[in-house]
Amino acid sequence: MQICVISGSPKGEMSVTLQYVRFLEQAFPEHTFSVVHVGQDIRTIERQEEAWDRLLATVQECDGVLWATPVYCMLVPAQLKRFIELVGGRNAAEVLSGKYAAALTTSIHFFDHTAHAYLHAVCDDFGMRYTGFCSAHIQDLQNEAFQERLILFFSDFLEAISEQRPVQGEFPPLPALFAAYAPKSPPAAVDTRGRRVVILHDAEPGSDLEAMVRHLAACYAGPVQVAHIRDAMMKGACLGCCRCAFENACVYDDGFRAFWEEHVVPADILVIAGTVRDRFFSAAWKQFFDRSFFNGHVPTFAGKQVGYLVEGPLGHLATLREVLTSLVMTEKANLAGIVTNEPDPAGIDAALHALAERSMRLADRGYIAPPTFPAVAGHKIFRDEIWGGMRAIFKADDRYYRQNGLYDFPTWNYAQRISTRVTSLAMSIPAVRRDVVKNMPHYMVQPLQDSIEKSTVLAKRRAKQ
Ligand SMILES: Cc1cc2nc3c(=O)[nH]c(=O)nc-3n(C[C@H](O)[C@H](O)[C@H](O)COP(=O)(O)O)c2cc1C
Repeated sequence: MQICVISGSPKGEMSVTLQYVRFLEQAFPEHTFSVVHVGQDIRTIERQEEAWDRLLATVQECDGVLWATPVYCMLVPAQLKRFIELVGGRNAAEVLSGKYAAALTTSIHFFDHTAHAYLHAVCDDFGMRYTGFCSAHIQDLQNEAFQERLILFFSDFLEAISEQRPVQGEFPPLPALFAAYAPKSPPAAVDTRGRRVVILHDAEPGSDLEAMVRHLAACYAGPVQVAHIRDAMMKGACLGCCRCAFENACVYDDGFRAFWEEHVVPADILVIAGTVRDRFFSAAWKQFFDRSFFNGHVPTFAGKQVGYLVEGPLGHLATLREVLTSLVMTEKANLAGIVTNEPDPAGIDAALHALAERSMRLADRGYIAPPTFPAVAGHKIFRDEIWGGMRAIFKADDRYYRQNGLYDFPTWNYAQRISTRVTSLAMSIPAVRRDVVKNMPHYMVQPLQDSIEKSTVLAKRRAKQ
């Protein structure tokens, strides 16, 4: 069989993910692999008709498509995102339609599931027959047990093709949205009290998003910095080279760093306004997010209120919503709100005003919502990965983690370890164990009751303020 590998890594042959493909190529010599380096060659593919046609011909001839891509910033790299936009924009989906597809990624498993969900949905949109995915950790290929799993994954893909297995789509088509927002009421402006409000956007002239950005800016009484992300003058997308790891400095010499420092760093309230293209923000926004990787794993939005304006059917895009909300949380910021143009154009004015009001109120109070699973799990993944090896190269991360007490492994909590050991030993005394079993709920709430008593002190303090 002929397999077309759509490689998303900007590193081409030097891609970690591509080594997994090369492994499969050796393991399945009876099949042919044609790799198209979409991640590396996106500019040529976009600009040169010949390159585009050649790529489509390769896809056309194949029996199955394997998306082989790294996970970048919770999704696929901007370059691959751009390719997916081009397929939609140039009506080329019919070349992919009906093809069997599978996805192979490498990452450290931080939001690999959202990258897979996105690719699956894109395959459904293109009418492809998506059979499944394999998500590898960067180093998994060195492990024999993993190699066997990879072979089984790929065998299943090949069998699906040869048996022409029926495949059901999972993601229903997106509803079409039409620009309909016409701002009406003049907003009652919210006093910014010296706080810096920044709105970054990728709005097209005359779009709903542009109107939303303008209206939101007018909801704040005080200067609001509004900037189009094209003004960051990026020369290109993230190269995935990781040379930034030592000192958090990117190899690109362009306007991105200055733009970041002028707009993102000083913002107290940061609003990210994006247009949905296929099933995520535009490739331009994705490029912006990927380029922010020069900060390594240092949370650069920490302490900010973050809001989103979305032009597009966000209500049908659970993966986009998950990425947007998790990005804020893992960055140690607070989600002030999301306003979209989809449900009821008449309600957008009020929603924008509520976002302005809420972002300012929460900024005044310094409120950052406690993290849920994405940030708690993300912290543990990064902590273990950085400590476990990455710190040899990711020096800036290592410094930040040390300085901020983020290497908070439970094994270093000696008081807790002693108490756990003592409790564990006590459990071997039958009478103690009987008592604990009988009164389990009591022992679970007992340590919290001190805090309840202290709440009266807090209430009195609040009353005095
Ligand atoms: C810009 C950038 C963003 C990344 N984002 C993520 C991420 O969100 N989750 C993750 O698990 N790994 C992330 N990684 C790590 C890559 O997924 C990993 O290094 C991958 O193996 C690179 O594959 P490649 O050599 O094929 O490009 C990121 C790496 C880079 C350079």
